[in-house]
Amino acid sequence: MSPNSPISPISPISPVSRKSSASFVNDVTAGLKPYPMEELSRIKSGLVKEGKPVFDFGTGDPRIPTWSPVRQALLNALPEISQYPSVKGIEKLAVAQEGYLKRRFGLQTGSDLAVIPSQGSKEAIFNIALCLVGRAGGKKHIIYPDPGYPVYRSSTLYAGGIPYPVRVRADNGYLLEPWELPLDVQKNAAAIWINHPHNPTGATAPLEYWRRVIEWAHKTDTILLSDDCYVDIFDAAIDDAIDDAIDTQFPVGVQPPVDQDPRPINPLQLSTDRVLSFMSLSKRSGLTGFRAGLIAGDPRIIAPYLNARANFGVGSPDFIQHAAAVAWADDRHVVDRRKIFTKRLATFGPLLQEFGMIEKIPSTTFYLWAKIPDKFGDDDIAFAMSLARLGIITSPSQWLSEGIRGYVRFALVPEDAHMQQAMGILREYLK
Ligand SMILES: Cc1ncc(COP(=O)(O)O)c(C=O)c1O
Repeated sequence: MSPNSPISPISPISPVSRKSSASFVNDVTAGLKPYPMEELSRIKSGLVKEGKPVFDFGTGDPRIPTWSPVRQALLNALPEISQYPSVKGIEKLAVAQEGYLKRRFGLQTGSDLAVIPSQGSKEAIFNIALCLVGRAGGKKHIIYPDPGYPVYRSSTLYAGGIPYPVRVRADNGYLLEPWELPLDVQKNAAAIWINHPHNPTGATAPLEYWRRVIEWAHKTDTILLSDDCYVDIFDAAIDDAIDDAIDTQFPVGVQPPVDQDPRPINPLQLSTDRVLSFMSLSKRSGLTGFRAGLIAGDPRIIAPYLNARANFGVGSPDFIQHAAAVAWADDRHVVDRRKIFTKRLATFGPLLQEFGMIEKIPSTTFYLWAKIPDKFGDDDIAFAMSLARLGIITSPSQWLSEGIRGYVRFALVPEDAHMQQAMGILREYLK
């Protein structure tokens, strides 16, 4: 056939039916709520189209320039020839992650502790459920805090497990107490998610709590999944205290023992038995777009999980791994980021207190979990929509929970001047 011959028309096969999409996907997919971030983007682009200013407190993605050595490392590592990455990751990244675990938590990898890279923590939080639901003779429950990160629930459902949200409350520091749950749930728990510092409340957990949760996990043979995404977002004043303590009390390179360390705790510091910790460069280093994290913990879980990950196809591109290695190996840029968030909490926390929306200002994360003033009722979605029409984007509590009404979450991510402007608008609106 010459290149210029006409193409003979092909008659398409007519569709069988075009009724509803529900039967084309499974029930879990059909039943998903719109992912909060997607919904917020839709509202935002509507405002932008109308030419209105947008103050986006919606998602936990601060707009702070990336530390330049990280960007440079990525550029330097861009290869001429592209090849598949491995899920195990490059040696340089492993060394950097091991160094971080040692410096920050005094942890040593070896026969009791393994570490592997992830593409940020979200994918790992999602797919670990596929490996744990049904373990130990058919345990199916996955327990998690409510309010909390929505992927704990969706991952459990996709894995065919039974989600078990536990309402956490301000009056006991937002701590999830699994020993209070019905005995059949405790017995059938494949895993439990604990997230401290906690999104959305900023609550941290004391050492005694961690001890108790780990003992409970051992007693009930439950895998403790610790979402440590915010473990490095704490009060910047602690950095000076730690530096002083290291100078005066501990030899160089030796971290304070966990009971004398004012920073948020990682449960691996107490035990690696049945414990996995999910950490990320997204908040620590502001690398949300790079997708870089790690999973550390019990090698009896990490080894088969790594094998499963090769099937999931979640190896990070090597150039990302080179950049991530630079970020894990450095702490100074993290100190600088902490200063920014600490200042923001100290500036905007008191304003929300004055508006009667929060009682206590958290010292970790960059979230403020704010109660809607009584006169606006408890419909957080309606309240958030009213604020959105004024250009202030927040996340209503029903999007971050399983039915909690009456709160909105402010993520302190806009630039300071914009936050000031937004607080002025909020003050007027609340009058
Ligand atoms: C509690 C919590 N866990 C995990 C993640 C996932 O973060 P990433 O996938 O960027 O590491 C987030 C993101 O906001 C989060 O808030």
